[in-house]
Amino acid sequence: MTVAGKAARARAGGAEAARTDDQQSRVLRERAMAAMELAYAPYSSFHVGAALLGSDGSICAACNVENAAFPAGTCAERAALACAVSSGVRSFRVIVIATSADEPAPPCGMCRQALIEFAPELEVISVTRAGKEARWRLADLLPHAFTPRSLDRTTE
Ligand code: THU
Repeated sequence: MTVAGKAARARAGGAEAARTDDQQSRVLRERAMAAMELAYAPYSSFHVGAALLGSDGSICAACNVENAAFPAGTCAERAALACAVSSGVRSFRVIVIATSADEPAPPCGMCRQALIEFAPELEVISVTRAGKEARWRLADLLPHAFTPRSLDRTTE
């Protein structure tokens, strides 16, 4: 399938809210998987897709985008977060992460930090192509997080 074809498939379903939890969870997995197929990961060959469910029922999906200047690459989860915040959504319920690994992979530390800013109660689900799955609460993945409240200053 061409990249344009894969992109059309990734967009299919748009930002509509699914009607039931089952449907919603199926749509999230499909969106994460479709995004993973679009990953630009020529350096690591580690393909990641993430589908982030907003509290309003909207879904933003994205993939990892690597770069010849390695640190310029971006993780799928933070790309999905940027997409959602840029469309006005700042509160989230679930993120589904699809990776090309054999075992479900948790999000990296930087993505945990980025997500907890907006969604300390976030449910994190990681899936594989073979259908393996793991679930965590973001707060358990990043205990003692640095949050906006950590910036509170005492006056002297
Ligand atoms: N990656 C993600 O997209 N999300 C994570 O949480 C971990 C790592 C990407 C970054 C890089 O493109 C590749 O996976 C290997 O680290």
